[in-house]
Amino acid sequence: MAKPPTSRVDKLLSSMGYGSRNEMLQLAKAGRITLDGTVLSDASIRIPVTPDLPNRMKIDGQPLDPVAGLVILLHKPLGMTCSHKEAGPLVYDSLPPRWRQRSPAISTIGRLDKQTTGLLLLTDDGALLHRVISPKRHVAKTYHARLARPLTGSEAALFASGDMMLEGEAKPLAPAQLQVLSETEALLTVTEGRYHQVRRMFAATGNHVEDLHRVRLGGLSLPKSLSPGQWVLLDEDQIAQIFS
Ligand code: URA
Repeated sequence: MAKPPTSRVDKLLSSMGYGSRNEMLQLAKAGRITLDGTVLSDASIRIPVTPDLPNRMKIDGQPLDPVAGLVILLHKPLGMTCSHKEAGPLVYDSLPPRWRQRSPAISTIGRLDKQTTGLLLLTDDGALLHRVISPKRHVAKTYHARLARPLTGSEAALFASGDMMLEGEAKPLAPAQLQVLSETEALLTVTEGRYHQVRRMFAATGNHVEDLHRVRLGGLSLPKSLSPGQWVLLDEDQIAQIFS
């Protein structure tokens, strides 16, 4: 197995948003950091950065935050934006405030519109992010749509055809699957991530999406137990399920 990377404790904690390196050196001196139950008074030492560190290191008696390489599954609430910069409520507001200062930064894996709710992944692992959003991977995304008008019955064939064009675009949409749930409700599974794709697909059929909620991404489903704004960290097996 590959050796874990090592880091100075002050640098590691600073990269996790706990404060400046100098502040971390002071924190250690004050006896507020423990490793394996023993006070670690010198934060200039190097330690292996292993995923089990949050079980072993404590700051003021609290377990250390997850180390880099984290993947978060958030139940995105209505009205929150997937952006680091915009004014107004951001999806990052659902996470601990300290996590805004992490380096590498945590970003959303793809985006959901402000008015879309449901399963949203976030990570600080750039390579993973690109693998999930890469068009070559065809990671499926399933949305529950509530529509303003009754479905006509012709949508499923059009969406599955592979030659549906969206306004202003030069390339037809890849085939998408529609599962009708009621006159005005359906599940739509797409493998692309074009701008406002689901809303524009229904708009092209003369309908209007009233509510949009992502229920599934790859092999991951939004857990029923997760309320809007709540999140969980994914383990290795769950991360692998994205691609299954
Ligand atoms: N399609 C949309 O129209 N909006 C989303 O947020 C996701 C997919």
